[in-house]
Amino acid sequence: MESLPEHISENVNPLRALSLDVLRQRTSEKWRAYPEDVLPVWVAEMDVPLAEPIARAIIDAVRLGDTGYASGTGYARALADFAAKRWNWHTLAVERTAIVPDVMLGVVEMLKLVTDPGGRVIVNSPVYPPFFMFVTHMDRQIVEAPLGADHRIDLDVLETAFRTTTATGERVAYLLCSPHNPTGTVHTEAELAAVAALAAEYGVRVVVDEIHAPLAPPDVFVPYLRVPGAANGLSLMSASKGWNLAGLKAALAVAGPGAADDLARLPVEVADGPSHVGVIAHTAALRDGAAWLDALLAGLAENRRLLARLLAEQLPSVRYTPAESTYLAWLDCRELGLGDSPATHFLDRGRVALTCGTGFGTGGAGHARFNLATHPDIVAEAVRRMAASI
Ligand SMILES: Cc1ncc(COP(=O)(O)O)c(C=O)c1O
Repeated sequence: MESLPEHISENVNPLRALSLDVLRQRTSEKWRAYPEDVLPVWVAEMDVPLAEPIARAIIDAVRLGDTGYASGTGYARALADFAAKRWNWHTLAVERTAIVPDVMLGVVEMLKLVTDPGGRVIVNSPVYPPFFMFVTHMDRQIVEAPLGADHRIDLDVLETAFRTTTATGERVAYLLCSPHNPTGTVHTEAELAAVAALAAEYGVRVVVDEIHAPLAPPDVFVPYLRVPGAANGLSLMSASKGWNLAGLKAALAVAGPGAADDLARLPVEVADGPSHVGVIAHTAALRDGAAWLDALLAGLAENRRLLARLLAEQLPSVRYTPAESTYLAWLDCRELGLGDSPATHFLDRGRVALTCGTGFGTGGAGHARFNLATHPDIVAEAVRRMAASI
């Protein structure tokens, strides 16, 4: 069995650090859901070693036995500093933040604050499948306002959804994914300002999931709450996707000035959900993980180019538009004629696991999501298997 790498320099592409043999020793969902002969490029975990500052912070906590309950505002302060440096966002106020167990449970708590049981929540399909699952589980109804063919928010479609849902006078929320999973679209400042203006006009409350924000180039991502007119929005942020910390649960809800009173109604017991070691890890990521993140972003850009080249060579009828953010590639496989779920074909015939598009709502059929956060050799082997299966 190959041994684990020791220290990895923070300026080296972390996607090249781990071999397939090492990765197969992992016990997380990505590596254990399928048999050994399947190459997993599905769930949003990254095949990277932990950034050194995060590993050090966790090891120090373990050595100290600092494994009690989460406390304090260190995570929120680290996020505010990171947001100021990275996104030129200087109005993230620590007193308008709340710690939540993870982003999806944070989304649920924010939606409880601004909608009523049975109420409606608008999403831009195709979108992250748990948006549908968590929202329906909490007794709210999903209303789809599909993205345009260019993978961008269609403001006319959104306005129609706002108008029809608010016509009854009920409280309505818009759950925005920014950057967007699965397309990787980074919404522009103008688009977000238009969203804020529409939300104000129709009285719709915006809850924005910004978990993928660190995975966008810093000069491209625009935090929703930084946009004029977005003051009564609520954002969910986390270091989870950027630094691969899904197993170390902790996230932050951030309120704009006009949503501070809503966030203040968050039940106190919600703050007991996150893991203290998770909070330590997320705080270290935001405080000391920028150099590692920059090396990762360069590696992801390389992998996007690699995937585009390999698909053009080996599977030219698969449509893929490399996006500016996330490590997710949204593949339009409809021309292959594999039906609604090409991922099922690639798994059965190619022994490669992608995420099936159908769970993403309208626009998902005939599509599959490919996770690029892996070694370039694994990207290449996955495409080879997909092509060989046709
Ligand atoms: C858009 C989006 N939101 C939330 C999550 C899950 O975050 P958490 O594990 O913090 O709930 C993911 C995970 O891939 C995601 O892509």
